[in-house]
Amino acid sequence: MAKKIKIETELEVFESISELPTSIQNLMNKAHEARENAYAPYSHFRVGATLLLDTGDIILGNNQENAAYPSGLCAERVAIYHAGAVYPTNQIIALAITARSLNKIITDPIPPCGACRQALVEYEVKQDADIETYFMGETGRIIKANSIKDLLPLIFNREYL
Ligand code: THU
Repeated sequence: MAKKIKIETELEVFESISELPTSIQNLMNKAHEARENAYAPYSHFRVGATLLLDTGDIILGNNQENAAYPSGLCAERVAIYHAGAVYPTNQIIALAITARSLNKIITDPIPPCGACRQALVEYEVKQDADIETYFMGETGRIIKANSIKDLLPLIFNREYL
């Protein structure tokens, strides 16, 4: 009989931004600001993502859509690739994500999509340190994962190459 393995993830839930550490409140507020500069004329779904670096710098990202739909890019990857390009040797400490739809009020915490999880985890492997990840909708609860790996078990990583 095949042996079973069980994968468990522990996440934290905060009822409001005021429960977060001050540096993360600031990071999330910057994500809200970045979100409003998203270029999302097709989905009307705006996402903002911010990264806190070990220097204290904050990198902004938002989703960038395209008339050729698959050519667009999610907010999280816009942010992480910018950090990788401009701060290649710095550590990324935390990530904040927020989403707002022009069609309805989003109260559910919006997690990064699967492709973004894979893109993000690459940088945890690269820097050999986890990235605390906080995500929310327009309002409502905030979920915290201690690591992208908690959102993406069985990552595909460089060791397999
Ligand atoms: N989007 C993100 O920016 N991040 C995600 O993790 C999920 C989806 C964007 C892509 C597209 O511009 C819009 O949200 C609707 O899918």
